[in-house]
Amino acid sequence: MLPTINPSSTKAWKGLQQHFESLKDQPMRSLFQADPQRFEKFSRRHQELVIDFSKNRITDTTWQLLLELATECQLEQAIKAMFNGELINKTEGRAVLHTALRNFSGKPVQTEGRDIMPDVQAVQQQMARFCEQVHSGSWKGYTGKKIRFIVNIGIGGSDLGPLMVTEALKPFWKEGIQPYFVSNVDGTHIAETLKKIDPEQTLFLIASKTFTTQETMTNSHTARNWFLQSGASEQDIARHFAALSTNEKEVVKFGIDKANMFGFWDWVGGRYSLWSAIGLSIALTIGYPAFEELLKGAYAADEHFRSTPFEDNIPVLMAITGLWYTNFFGAQTEAILPYDQYMHRFPAYFQQGNMESNGKSIDRNGNKVNYSTGPIIWGEPGTNGQHAFYQLIHQGTPLIPCDFIAAAKSFNPVGDHHQKLLSNFFAQTEALMNGKSEVEARAELEKAGMSSEKIAELLPFKVFEGNKPTNSILVKELNPFTLGQLIAFYEHKIFVQGIIWNIYSFDQWGVELGKQLANKILPELLDDTPVSSHDSSTNGLINLYKKMR
Ligand code: F6P
Repeated sequence: MLPTINPSSTKAWKGLQQHFESLKDQPMRSLFQADPQRFEKFSRRHQELVIDFSKNRITDTTWQLLLELATECQLEQAIKAMFNGELINKTEGRAVLHTALRNFSGKPVQTEGRDIMPDVQAVQQQMARFCEQVHSGSWKGYTGKKIRFIVNIGIGGSDLGPLMVTEALKPFWKEGIQPYFVSNVDGTHIAETLKKIDPEQTLFLIASKTFTTQETMTNSHTARNWFLQSGASEQDIARHFAALSTNEKEVVKFGIDKANMFGFWDWVGGRYSLWSAIGLSIALTIGYPAFEELLKGAYAADEHFRSTPFEDNIPVLMAITGLWYTNFFGAQTEAILPYDQYMHRFPAYFQQGNMESNGKSIDRNGNKVNYSTGPIIWGEPGTNGQHAFYQLIHQGTPLIPCDFIAAAKSFNPVGDHHQKLLSNFFAQTEALMNGKSEVEARAELEKAGMSSEKIAELLPFKVFEGNKPTNSILVKELNPFTLGQLIAFYEHKIFVQGIIWNIYSFDQWGVELGKQLANKILPELLDDTPVSSHDSSTNGLINLYKKMR
């Protein structure tokens, strides 16, 4: 079972509060000046990935105290509990074993008294076979044509992961396969997708852990009707629809052949499910061997996480460094900024990963927490973000710790694009750390020949405080293996933070209330009778909508 320690009652927390007072005004600039080895000291490598933590407002003492906090909160025991299949998702009575989906150790993984690896491997073999059939053309559509279009219908964890990964791995796409992702219940999403595909060459993957999610079921029925209207028969559905789910009963009820169901289990959380059958759209897009490389990258990260001492453990260091800003500097958000256009959905993916996992305010004892938990996660690829929101990161009032991510090699080495991209990647973290002092700003304006009155007027606006913390993550190349590694590091960061914050990271009760109310409102929208059963705002809006439509 997981520990239930209030982190703010630990000795380390008190030590961190005192340490914060002594460090809060110290510029990182001076920390760099005082220690020429700072980069070596505060960066860590794992295979072809390096993460540099040195541009953070930390010293040896900071990490030491934060690691003591992790130890006092029994992180080591918690990691063991997760990998050992204990039911650590207590409010749902489930284990948390997405790590078993990428377990290449050859060793069993037990939960509730049984080894789950044979089931995992059976589905992986089924996926590999299916991909082979689709790619070789032996799997044919109802008119005998090869499959060209893959449409994944899912939402949340059944959409964001596969979408993010397929986008990030575009250079690895199989020729002749075009994936699409439909998630929103807004009819526009499915309607616009159906315009681009040919029913004779399309495979719909209905991706839903529960197979009851309103958006996914609505989009799937629309896709099914569209398919049947194209001239196909009910029997043809078996060639064009597959289900990725844990709920066999609902899959069969929908009319999908059991043979076309790729199963997974309740110990795979939705937002941690891209490694499971939910990843079939990835495997169909990049080929099963490349999908396996993604799993192997994650496995390498898992092994690092479970066996590396905390002071060298990348996800642990990511977690404690983030926590330092959330709980001691009062930072409320974190930005993820990939300098890689292929990674454009990475921030959105970890928005769910992080915010659905650690957006909690009740601790594992059932009490309201007296400290901050999960931050708001957001971000966009660089350099686009630089021309949009970086102003606030540089000169705004909130402190926003940022992760900068880049690959050393580009798949599109046109002209000097990549050098320009990376010059911005390096420049931004340097600028955020150093800032520009009054003396430097003045010298610059004087050099430009500005009058002293004008300088006095402009100077306050030209100063950059600096001291803005960043992590820089550099990989040699963004490929299935390194992407798997990176995703798993971020997943484990979320786990570590949830353990220290003493919350349950693997449930998501907070999304239920809105769903319940939408179900109550839906029948009220079917006719034009005014409603009066809600508050005056909701009544007013519904009644206006009824008049406007
Ligand atoms: O809305 C919350 C949620 O349960 C997510 O956690 C999940 O990823 C998503 O809905 C989709 O659920 P399902 O895969 O069951 O359709």
